[in-house]
Amino acid sequence: MDDLTLPFESKYFPRKKYAEMYRRSLEKPEEFWAEQAQNLDWFKPWDKVLEWNPPWANWFAGGRLNASYNCVDRHTKTWRRSKVAIYWEGEPGDTRVLSYSTLYTEVNKVASVLKKLGVSKGDKVALYLPMIPELPIFMLACARIGAPHTVIFSGFSAQALADRINDVGAKILVTANGGYRRGKVLNLKSMSDDALDMCPTVKTSIVVSRTDNEVKMKEGRDFWLHDLMKKADAYVEPEALESNHPLYILYTSGTTGKPKGIVHGTGGYLVHNYSTYGWVFDLKEESVYWCSADVGWVTGHSSIVYAPLAHGAAIVLYEGSPDYPAIDRWWEIIEKYGVTIFYTSPTAIRMFMGQGEEWPKKHDLSSLELLGSVGEVINPEAWLWYYRNIGQERCPIVDTWWQTETGGIMISPTPGIEPMPLKPGSATLPLPGVAAEIVDEDGNPVKTGERGLLVIKQPWPGMLVGVYGDPERYEKSYWSRFPGMYFTGDYAVKDQDGYFWLLGRSDEILKIAGHRIGTAELEDAAISHPDIIESAVVGKPDRIKGESLVMFVKIREGVNESAELRKNITDHMRKTVGAFAVPGDIYFTSALPKTRSGKIMRRVLKAVASGEEVGDLSTLEDQSAVEAAIKSYQGLKKAEAEKK
Ligand code: PRX
Repeated sequence: MDDLTLPFESKYFPRKKYAEMYRRSLEKPEEFWAEQAQNLDWFKPWDKVLEWNPPWANWFAGGRLNASYNCVDRHTKTWRRSKVAIYWEGEPGDTRVLSYSTLYTEVNKVASVLKKLGVSKGDKVALYLPMIPELPIFMLACARIGAPHTVIFSGFSAQALADRINDVGAKILVTANGGYRRGKVLNLKSMSDDALDMCPTVKTSIVVSRTDNEVKMKEGRDFWLHDLMKKADAYVEPEALESNHPLYILYTSGTTGKPKGIVHGTGGYLVHNYSTYGWVFDLKEESVYWCSADVGWVTGHSSIVYAPLAHGAAIVLYEGSPDYPAIDRWWEIIEKYGVTIFYTSPTAIRMFMGQGEEWPKKHDLSSLELLGSVGEVINPEAWLWYYRNIGQERCPIVDTWWQTETGGIMISPTPGIEPMPLKPGSATLPLPGVAAEIVDEDGNPVKTGERGLLVIKQPWPGMLVGVYGDPERYEKSYWSRFPGMYFTGDYAVKDQDGYFWLLGRSDEILKIAGHRIGTAELEDAAISHPDIIESAVVGKPDRIKGESLVMFVKIREGVNESAELRKNITDHMRKTVGAFAVPGDIYFTSALPKTRSGKIMRRVLKAVASGEEVGDLSTLEDQSAVEAAIKSYQGLKKAEAEKK
């Protein structure tokens, strides 16, 4: 790994400022975070920086604040009132530019709309919207009145949407008639209609008009936003919320079939994100910051909405697909808006890499100062391509490791503190306040160069405050594997400079093109297909997406293993989970390899799917199941070869 260390390393080593900050942050965490919290506006100061009753944390206990006030109102009291908050670009090329004062007007009016519809503090609001300005506006409006939002990624199907709405018990659903994706209209309204048939708690739905498609409006339930806005008040007092008041609930995959509602509070979450976006991205009010993620994931929550707006920066929000109308759409956007900081995923970088260097070369990318990567391991080749072709060997790359649960960045280079040596493929060092450690199966620190499990040994302000409606799951998933330590589920290794290298998940969670998907959730979806008796889903390495989905299925007797059935299963997965959950390969098999205790041996299936040796099978209950899986794999490969 050291061969790839870039030449600018020795110049700045050791990092004195960072080292001093890091040491102090862990020795005197309360003092350290209290200083950071001064960067926000509080309606009432906290009584105690941290109340820690493991594993339950209450950061800035007794303090009162409002996220909408911190991201919007406070800027309108400065020169920033007339500066850009949001540069929005629709896929067809239409644009909207919102200053902080326009954002203020919109957020207040939408908050009033919500209140007039009966939404009050503590009520949950589900947001199922395309990447249009109304998405951050609704999030901030919810925050203003203390109604936690649940954003559901617009790529989820009706069933997945309904499951999340029902789990959170949302009172209201906000959707749009549609959104543009690769030149087509994604009909979100019809998807919402199907979902609402299954959601008894939702009595009202607000519909944003984005596209021209016809939609059915249900009398008494559905209201156009533009009609409601006509009667909205211009000002809604921001609620002075307890620091731990839930800002949002965001669903993510775990190791069971049921997605987890990760709950984030207000004060700790904002302090963490405000601080870390300064250290990592050197974010300032003059930055033009573009995070290409979808707001439907945590990256979108922290990196598109809360952190940059709390800093008073300008964000870029792009509705559509990166390759529409051509593969240089993103580079065109960077040039058009003079983006200074660009943050994306390794999958996107690998996709662009495959298309050639000529595309970014067509554009003037000289405004860029810093680049970021998130969501999955970035391979050194992709890192270097990004560094050379997008950053033009001028911009540092921050490879940021974090999770939905951590709320904000945890391990990353920190050029905002001081320049630092980078190593392609390493997320480098933990941020101040993050007590990251790599441990063995017994919870003891591993030696340098040895692979182990990544844990966090002290609470941090951005940490989740719980799993919605399931305190036991919170304790069990994160705090029971190693008592007193937060279990991340990731493998990692530290090199001789103390740099962290992330090595992927240790559990049954997959990362497909950076999307987090639990295999159990997919297997549950698969067996809801009438012809499937049993299924196992594994990941196999994919050059662009990092991993792709492979599904082994045992079908009912008498059903034919046909290409038609394969297509039918694919459609079923698209319908029950979403387009991003469609398997790359489906293998029919007469049995699934299991241990004697009945656990599916995914390691074996993974090897079969990747065409590798299956290794030790001594714990296997029935050897013939492996042979059946291999036979199915070989059969499919042969059929594919013959087709070619
Ligand atoms: O496995 C790690 C991977 O993404 C997981 C968290 O996924 P999610 O909750 O969807 O949040 C993603 C965006 C913050 C982690 O457990 N991961 C995230 N960032 C990195 C990463 N793996 C390697 N390097 C990263 N920079």
